[in-house]
Amino acid sequence: MKTLFGKLADGTEIHSWALENGGTRLKVLSWGGIVQSLEIPDRHGRHANVCLGFDAIEDYVARTPYFGALIGRYGNRIGDGRFTLDGEAHQVDVNDGVNSLHGGATGFDRQVWYVEPFTEGSDVGLRLRRTSADKEMGYPGTLAVQVTYTLTEQGDWRIDYEATTDRATVVNLTSHVYWNLAGESGGSVEDHELTIAAARYTPVDAGLIPTGELAEVSGTPFDFRETRTIGRDLRAGHVQQVRAQGYDHNWVLDKGVTAEPVHVATLRDPGSGRTLEIATDQPGLQFYSGNFLDGTLVGTGGRAYRQGDALCLETQHFPDSPNQPAFPSTVLRPGQTYRTTTVHSFGS
Ligand code: BGC
Repeated sequence: MKTLFGKLADGTEIHSWALENGGTRLKVLSWGGIVQSLEIPDRHGRHANVCLGFDAIEDYVARTPYFGALIGRYGNRIGDGRFTLDGEAHQVDVNDGVNSLHGGATGFDRQVWYVEPFTEGSDVGLRLRRTSADKEMGYPGTLAVQVTYTLTEQGDWRIDYEATTDRATVVNLTSHVYWNLAGESGGSVEDHELTIAAARYTPVDAGLIPTGELAEVSGTPFDFRETRTIGRDLRAGHVQQVRAQGYDHNWVLDKGVTAEPVHVATLRDPGSGRTLEIATDQPGLQFYSGNFLDGTLVGTGGRAYRQGDALCLETQHFPDSPNQPAFPSTVLRPGQTYRTTTVHSFGS
């Protein structure tokens, strides 16, 4: 179902699309492909919206730390916003200190998407499309993008990303949902339990750019191979945590790049019993513990979001890959199709 969500200052109408399948209810905006709300049941069958967001388009336009948004062309950071591809130097938009974050100041999260609903067998979903012009935010190549959000009969939310280019470029698309399985105004997620199938992560410098090292998680606060709460070692004072004000790192998934999505992470809220399982074909997972939420944004439930009130689990290629030849490549060339899938499954 399509409804008018609001209008941009120039009069452009922004719509909200509501979908439901298998007990999961999703609301998506044509602005930024934003998941404005995602409702799932708890162990007693009570639904709650488990994603941070806003009620009004004006709030999304004014200031948002990417709540629920589609991220492109390059999810995460590129050092100094610079890279060289086939001998040609590129400068992309710098919007995070000296670095480029999530595609630049006007990334895919701040664009209007063309949205089309579909039903296929027992699946329902939305296709979101847009063409990013050559040199948009400094990136080379005209990039034609299609992102498909599917709700399956089981209530899984699946994202299929596709892109093609007319010139060699780099691409790293992801989704920036802020999860709080107790409900979006449930407060701290420190008691949420998390498992990540990764023996290594990519340590960062002061600007949160990977140093290039793949460090072992063993014996550190970064070891989520066995389930542990987010709060357990959040204040351990590890130099990497101090740098990021918590967790804000890329985990090197043990499975590497795979042809099909493989289960890599589980999040559970013991209070409600709600669980989220993530499967992906991507090599990395950014676990961000909502460190920069500071109580100045009021969300859909009328409550302020404070530090640690949600977490993000962004499936991706490693940050700054265009400058790290040893990392899996993010280069896309004419004639190739960028294709990646992430599946979110829910339980209680
Ligand atoms: C990044 C954080 C950043 C946040 C945006 C996350 O994906 O890892 O460093 O602050 O997005 O608010």
